[in-house]
Amino acid sequence: MRYAHITGWGKYVPQRVVTNDELAQTVETSDGWIRDRTGIAERRIAGPSETTASMAIAAAIGALDVAGASGSQLDLIIVATTTPEHLFPSTACLVQDALGAARAGAFDLSAACSGFVYGLSLGADAIKAGSANTVLVIGSETLSRIVNWKDRNTCVLFGDGAGAVLLQGSDQPGGILSTLLRADGSGGELLIIPAGGSRQPVTPEAIAQNLHTIQMNGREVFRFASRVMDRATREIIYKAGWTTDQVDLFVPHQANLRIIEMAARSLGVPLDKFYCNIARYGNTSAASIPIALTEAAESGLLRPKDRVVMVGFGAGLTWAAAALEWGEPHPASRSQKTLSRLGYGVASVRSRARRLFRRVEDRLFGTLDPTLQPAPAREPARELPGRNGSEPGRRGDGKREPTPASDPKPESVTANGTPSDQSALEEARS
Ligand code: UT7
Repeated sequence: MRYAHITGWGKYVPQRVVTNDELAQTVETSDGWIRDRTGIAERRIAGPSETTASMAIAAAIGALDVAGASGSQLDLIIVATTTPEHLFPSTACLVQDALGAARAGAFDLSAACSGFVYGLSLGADAIKAGSANTVLVIGSETLSRIVNWKDRNTCVLFGDGAGAVLLQGSDQPGGILSTLLRADGSGGELLIIPAGGSRQPVTPEAIAQNLHTIQMNGREVFRFASRVMDRATREIIYKAGWTTDQVDLFVPHQANLRIIEMAARSLGVPLDKFYCNIARYGNTSAASIPIALTEAAESGLLRPKDRVVMVGFGAGLTWAAAALEWGEPHPASRSQKTLSRLGYGVASVRSRARRLFRRVEDRLFGTLDPTLQPAPAREPARELPGRNGSEPGRRGDGKREPTPASDPKPESVTANGTPSDQSALEEARS
């Protein structure tokens, strides 16, 4: 039987610290209100050169270093984020490129603040199923770029940062023992960015109403969070076959200190068994649990065989939990780290070379054959499904439309009207 162990961990937080007092200069709030209602004292805010990918890469390198592993060993990279660099390509692909993870699959995972635990569950399952042996799971967020800095209900809560863990397969029992993933889409509008997706693209009107920024019904989300923190923690402990007092450390999502305190009270667990760093970073969404876990490991709080429970909750609504047994660290030697750094340098050169090669290839072969030029405008586009309820090629009454004799065969034309005659292309290339 295969087990998925956490063998490396890392984090990155921006240098820039923004205190509550600083925020109180721009919105009607106070240090006292923010501390009392949330437990937050300050947060980190990304500078212009810090992005979701750059922070994810820094956290990932930290995790690989702790494990004495390199990017070339990775089979899978999962980046949990609500603030990806682009809608596509995925941020995970940017991480893959930077780490020189030539054998890895890579994808982003959207489950908001529960995203890291969702990713951990998928990564562990891939290892247990035998489809991967080395998986990087990252939570990275640049929430400062999607916050409405004039909305005191939300802007005081969030911060930027990234955390990562490396999962590796082993026959040794331990590691990720059980996970739980849940969702309730009926609460989607409680925490939402309404514009910017396919339903409502960003328009000047949407921007004027701040629909491209976080909108939250804080009280409702608070109620939901308090409920699921307790329920999911109990469920995952039961699933792992433990009792609450056997858990050595709880690593909860850092959204509000009051939510954590309520969970500790209702579970009958002393608060010092809950790792809390919300005072320093605020809510960093998918990054909050891996940042907290990394800090706990770095400060020596975690010893081999320790039993750890993580619980995340957030937009979706989603929630997730994981129970794991902490493993032995295998820190990289100085020479291993130097070799890895060299590897990342090589990855950067290789990435540039690939881009250059594509440009050269395009120059050499892109326009050699005049038949490969875009074709002149053709017939008007066929009707899309959905209009007046009819399928494409069918009339509203369900009868098939007569096909015009001049209708080009669809297989011979690509989306942009370019002939897709593979043999002509290959001939040109040879
Ligand atoms: O990670 C995703 C999950 N997110 C969460 O878990 C967040 C869950 N929600 C919360 O943490 C809390 O609901 C908040 C921290 C967002 C708000 O705390 P609350 O104790 O629930 O406050 P409230 O919404 O009940 O608002 C109380 C008052 C309101 O004024 P009125 O209507 O009573 O006059 C707010 O306008 O506090 C006001 N208020 C503020 N006052 C000063 C809201 N934000 C601020 C602020 N400074 N920043």
